[in-house]
Amino acid sequence: MVCPPGLEDLVAAEIAGLGARRTRVHKGAVATDLTSRQLYAANRSLRCATRVLVRVAGFTARSFSDLERRLGEVDWAPWLADGARPAYRVTSRGSQLVHTRAIEERFAAALGAGHPEGPEQLVVVRVSRDRFTVSVDSSGAPLHMRGWRQATAKAPLRESVAAGMLLAAGWGPTTPLIDPMCGSGTIAIEAALLAAGRDPGADRPFAFQQWPSFEPGTWASVTATQENPVATCPAIIGSDRDAGAIGAARSNAERAGVADLVEFRQAPISDLEAPDGGPGYLITNPPWGGRISPGGDLRNLYATLGNVAAERLPGWGIGVLAADRDLARQVRPGLTETLHLDLGGQRAVYLTGPLGSANEMS
Ligand SMILES: C[S@@+](CC[C@H](N)C(=O)[O-])C[C@H]1O[C@@H](n2cnc3c(N)ncnc32)[C@H](O)[C@@H]1O
Repeated sequence: MVCPPGLEDLVAAEIAGLGARRTRVHKGAVATDLTSRQLYAANRSLRCATRVLVRVAGFTARSFSDLERRLGEVDWAPWLADGARPAYRVTSRGSQLVHTRAIEERFAAALGAGHPEGPEQLVVVRVSRDRFTVSVDSSGAPLHMRGWRQATAKAPLRESVAAGMLLAAGWGPTTPLIDPMCGSGTIAIEAALLAAGRDPGADRPFAFQQWPSFEPGTWASVTATQENPVATCPAIIGSDRDAGAIGAARSNAERAGVADLVEFRQAPISDLEAPDGGPGYLITNPPWGGRISPGGDLRNLYATLGNVAAERLPGWGIGVLAADRDLARQVRPGLTETLHLDLGGQRAVYLTGPLGSANEMS
């Protein structure tokens, strides 16, 4: 399983929930053994992963003739649909064969080009100290592309990261949730999908469905799993001061089939209100950079978020994702750095903890 670096432990816990026994955590990946059923279920149900790779070969090769011979020994038939077009992602470190382009050419010669209109099949090749690890991607489009987010506001968060923020804060689907800077609504919609007991991949196709080794009966037993909604859905509220963002969030919630579970409002953070049924969690991803309005800077915005939240949501928990640790610390003193993320080269820290009450602020 590949995931954004920082979400490995959450992915490992999700895989354990599918019955996988031993998991090994690496940077940005979690390895384990899965049955076909677990592989299919992983693709459909993992909330924090990016893709599920299946290891098809491992060998040592120090020359191109070694590599060609080894590739000739691999049985590719189970993984390549008729006409499938292989696409390669090759990395090499500390090895005799370093030219990734030349390595890719040997793979292309062994696997063939496929049909120009055939389905793309990603093949991931990692070479480390002459040891080749070859995997095929079973997911297709990355798993965070659930299919519902077509409208985006500024700086949308990956759906997998939004799910990770909810899980890492300890939010459970029976507890109220507010994201007062919701942008296109990603955090609130992921929360509603959890409350609805819906698999995040329920409405999208996967690469493994094209494989000759695909087992339709096994897949049918995975998709037959019933939704398991919570008995009473808590208040799930997204607000943003930007009208365009709220429009995008509403249409995304509609597409995700959770419009009736989430309330979106256009409002500035200063209008934050406690819903019925608290305490719950405020989980948000404030703007990360630049000046956001003529009269105020980001430090003020982060401090206002903390003050308003503590005043109106006493006893609630908070989770804030920010690029800048000092900025995030403006929100509340004493929050815990729960996740350290690498989001495509952009580092981010996720702070969580109790809000306490306004009186506790020094
Ligand atoms: C980084 S974006 C959130 C992205 C969101 N998580 C998503 O996935 O689309 C930050 C959002 O904060 C909103 N914002 C900035 N200042 C605000 C304020 N004072 N009150 C409410 N929303 C604000 C912006 O309009 C923007 O949509």
